[in-house]
Amino acid sequence: MTDLLTLSPVMPVVVIDDADDAVPTARALLAGGVGVIELTLRTPAALAAIERVAVEVPDIVVGAGTVTSEEQAKLAASAGAQFLVTPGCTDALLDAAFATGLPFLPGASTVSEALRLAERGLTALKFFPAEASGGTAFLKSIAGPLPDLRFCPTGGVTPDSARSYLALPNVGCVGGSWLTPEKLLSTKDFDEVRNLAAEAATLR
Ligand code: 3PG
Repeated sequence: MTDLLTLSPVMPVVVIDDADDAVPTARALLAGGVGVIELTLRTPAALAAIERVAVEVPDIVVGAGTVTSEEQAKLAASAGAQFLVTPGCTDALLDAAFATGLPFLPGASTVSEALRLAERGLTALKFFPAEASGGTAFLKSIAGPLPDLRFCPTGGVTPDSARSYLALPNVGCVGGSWLTPEKLLSTKDFDEVRNLAAEAATLR
C-alpha cells in the first residue's frame, strides 16, 4: 500500500458532475505526468466515471475516494476502482475495504486513529483534513513516535504548501483538488488541467 503514495507527488482529488468529463480529465492528468486519479463518490456520476476511466484510460491508476460505507466500497470495486480512499475510518468500513481485496488509503487525523490503523497492518494513511488538523506541524510531531507510518495529507493543501508537506520524511504524496477545479471541468478546459498536472508532477 505504501506504493500508492509513490505514484505521483499529488493525488488528484476529483469531483465529477458529468461522467462525460471523466475520460478527458484522466487523459489530461496523464498527459501532464500524473498517473493516478481519485474519483470521489460524491456525485451521482462518480461510479460511471470510474467505470469509463478504468476501461478507456488503462494507463492511469483509478481509485474511488470519499468511500464512507460498505456498499460504496463494493460498488467502487465493481466499477473497476483499483484502490479506495476513505476520509476517516470505522471498524465496519475497514472490514468492507479489506473485503474488496483492493489497496486502500484510510483517513486518520489523530495519533490514536493512526495507531488503530497500524494495528490492522495499514502503514500508508491519508491525513485528513490536513490543514484543519495541524498541517505540517502535526506530521513533524508524530514522525518520531510513529516512524513506520507514511501519509498523504489532504484537505486545504495548496501548490505552495504541497512543497512543505513533501519535504517531510513521513509524507509520500499530498492530495488536492486544485488540479481539477470545478471551473475548469465545467468549461471543459482540459488543456489547463494538463498544465496544472505538469506543474504538480514536478513538485517532489
Ligand atoms: C476534499 O475534501 O475535497 C479533499 O480533501 C480535497 O481537499 P481540497 O479541496 O482542500 O484540496
